[in-house]
Amino acid sequence: MSRRNEFWGLVLLVAVCLLLIAFSQKEEPRYSQALKYEADTYDEADYHPNSSLTASIRDVVRMQQNLVRNALDDYPFPPGQSLNDYTMATGGRPVRTIIVTTWRSGSTFLGDVINAVPGNFYHYEPLLDYGIVQIRGPPHADSAISNLKNLLNCDYSNLQNYLQYGRTHNYLFTHNRRLWGLCDSFPQYCWNSTFLSSVCKVFPFQSMKTVRIRLRLAEELLKDEQLNVKVLLLMRDPRGTLQSRKHRDWCPGQPDCDKPNLVCADMVSDYSAAIQLQKLYPDRFRAIRYEDLCADPYQHIQNLFEFFGLFYHPAVSKFLDLHTKKNVGGVSSTTRDTRSAPFLWRSKLNFSEVQYIEENCDQAMKLWGYVKASNESHLREFNPLTNYTIQ
Ligand SMILES: *[C@@H]1O[C@H](CO)[C@@H](O)[C@H](O)[C@H]1NC(C)=O
Ligand SMILES: *[C@@H]1O[C@H](CO)[C@@H](O)[C@H](O)[C@H]1NC(C)=O
Ligand SMILES: *[C@@H]1O[C@H](CO)[C@@H](O)[C@H](O)[C@H]1NC(C)=O
Ligand SMILES: *[C@@H]1O[C@H](CO)[C@@H](O)[C@H](O)[C@H]1NC(C)=O
Ligand SMILES: *[C@@H]1O[C@H](CO)[C@@H](O)[C@H](O)[C@H]1NC(C)=O
Repeated sequence: MSRRNEFWGLVLLVAVCLLLIAFSQKEEPRYSQALKYEADTYDEADYHPNSSLTASIRDVVRMQQNLVRNALDDYPFPPGQSLNDYTMATGGRPVRTIIVTTWRSGSTFLGDVINAVPGNFYHYEPLLDYGIVQIRGPPHADSAISNLKNLLNCDYSNLQNYLQYGRTHNYLFTHNRRLWGLCDSFPQYCWNSTFLSSVCKVFPFQSMKTVRIRLRLAEELLKDEQLNVKVLLLMRDPRGTLQSRKHRDWCPGQPDCDKPNLVCADMVSDYSAAIQLQKLYPDRFRAIRYEDLCADPYQHIQNLFEFFGLFYHPAVSKFLDLHTKKNVGGVSSTTRDTRSAPFLWRSKLNFSEVQYIEENCDQAMKLWGYVKASNESHLREFNPLTNYTIQ
């Protein structure tokens, strides 16, 4: 590696870290070590020595295809299958996954866990251009679902609004660090739909997370047999999500985001949809609570990977080690932090705030197994979780 490339690699790294930090604080719960993670788990998002302005789209796509091939050299595809069976560029069908959730429910963390798999292409928050809204039906449902399908099919030809939004809000792409690496080296192609369609197709794993559609609409995606997508609903205690949202400048004043009755009506509707989808698509739909995930991330992530049909790659356990075990200073263990992170609201909200949420969330909390606090002292120390079943 020449000095010049090392230098630009470093510049890229610093830029990515800064963006990551800046935007991880904007949306979704933060988790430690973003910085270290970027430094340690570089794989095919690594240096692109050929940053020549003269490289054609075809050159860049071919280079990326080679990088993916190398990164997945020892990936255990099922017997008799190979990378080519999974990339659209070679007529294959990718492993497609979607996390359906809402703001501040832990999906940034889970999204990045999946993105730790080499060869993953991460469609982060593809509905950002719709604003701070929940899409539950008309008028936005059709266009939103069609956008999601287009992205999962690597078809960027009808995504003008999406791309236009991304040009001025780069975090649409920065979480997709493999793509963002290319954007850094080949800025002339970053928002070019022809380029995006081609480069997306060399990745065998296509992951997506969205906080803006309600689960009922995801049936449209599951129905599509050719898409063969796996859907995970990520749920969180409304007291935790609402506490966390209080301090985001983009949330207060937006009813879909800060009104407990709307948040919890969505939880109830997601519950009915979950029953339905579990019946219709038992192999392609699953739900999990953020609190359960945090209590035992290793076990749950392994189970989820099995469900998704993804190999539990060493890069994934390494990612988990970095995010759930050590902390930046190495002074103390943050394992306990990971476990208690979902429950911070117990000390940050006062009892009347908690009661106000609970009054609006009676049914939602019963369905999803969240216990009410009895009084101020109970609030500070109780276990808000109980069992729930989807049936
Ligand atoms: C860039 O990559 C293309 C295709 O791999 C190659 O033909 C070209 O010579 C490379 N350019 C530079 C400057 O390395
Ligand atoms: C994408 O880039 C190619 C090659 O530079 C160019 O011909 C094409 O017009 C661009 N497409 C868009 C939508 O900008
Ligand atoms: C609880 O917190 C809210 C919002 O910060 C505040 O307006 C209210 O006065 C507090 N109530 C009590 C009983 O401390
Ligand atoms: C608070 O609630 C707990 C659990 O229901 C109960 O045991 C305790 O006596 C209550 N404390 C007060 C001060 O009411
Ligand atoms: C929840 O279910 C588990 C396993 O069935 C059981 O061990 C546990 O006691 C249950 N907890 C509650 C609060 O009902």
